[in-house]
Amino acid sequence: MPLVTSTEMFKKAYEGGYAIGAFNVNNMEIVQGITEAAKEVNAPLILQVSSGARKYANHTYLMKLVEAAIAETGLPICLHLDHGDTFELCKSCIDGGFTSVMIDGSHHSFEDNIKLTKQVVEYAHAHGVVVEGELGRLAGVEDDVNVSDEDSSYTRPEEVEEFVAKTGVDSLAIAIGTSHGAFKFKGEPKLRFDILEEVSRRLPGFPIVLHGASSVIPELVDKINQYGGNMPGARGVPEPMLRQAAKSAVCKINIDSDLRLAMTATIREYFAQHPEHFDPRQYLKPAREAIKDLVKNKIINVLGCDGKA
Ligand code: G3H
Ligand code: 13P
Ligand code: ZN
Repeated sequence: MPLVTSTEMFKKAYEGGYAIGAFNVNNMEIVQGITEAAKEVNAPLILQVSSGARKYANHTYLMKLVEAAIAETGLPICLHLDHGDTFELCKSCIDGGFTSVMIDGSHHSFEDNIKLTKQVVEYAHAHGVVVEGELGRLAGVEDDVNVSDEDSSYTRPEEVEEFVAKTGVDSLAIAIGTSHGAFKFKGEPKLRFDILEEVSRRLPGFPIVLHGASSVIPELVDKINQYGGNMPGARGVPEPMLRQAAKSAVCKINIDSDLRLAMTATIREYFAQHPEHFDPRQYLKPAREAIKDLVKNKIINVLGCDGKA
């Protein structure tokens, strides 16, 4: 099976009241852990690559890893550029075989966001590639850029119809209070489900995307802190909120930080228990297993896309 776009995945997810997991990949163990999990529970999958991941691992290596995962699992996999910030970056990923790109123009004015997004959509659609746009601005850390709470902003529902109509995007990321990274809420977690509802009322049948959707699983943070880490106050989106979102118009849920925590917690614990070991295979193997367990749990208990491949 070749790489697929997310079009069919989103149509079925919207109608079926579940969401597809979009997991960030940076190396072989992460690709393997995620795809082995999806294979075991027969789930459709979006693997996404940030520009930082592309700089770290190289486009061709990541393409080949994902192609290998498809050959091994036979799953429908969509390969997506996460947070593309320029036309040139999106074009390079489209030309290089990705089936989906995000153009994140959320830091531009409404008019410039439309202009840039439309330019990417025209090129992408001419090449059979789908496009995710963004309206509203998430807080948190993304590619070393830290967006403060003051600079973040909720999506304005009154803008979404015009944005979608003028750009031709295939899905829309919105800001309802989630944020990137491991420190999402200072106090009680709170999401603006009213904004999500109003957006979906204005865009019937249209797939919505939730970024910054890691739960920052407390057991993983505890383990990191127990084994020499220092992450006081780390907090994510509670799973029941994500389940509620997955049942709505949200068809794609982005998860990266939880993968990082699972890998780091496992490796920290491993070294605490085996200080004499130095073969990377010894500590990367349990780290890959931890990613697999985490992703299986997300698919079954949060996204609800098990059995939907
Ligand atoms: O939204 C950002 C993703 O977590 C990717 O992070 O840019 O550090 O690879 P990164
Ligand atoms: P987290 O930092 O919550 O995992 O969000 C990831 C994300 O939105 C990638 O685009
Ligand atoms: Zn994101």
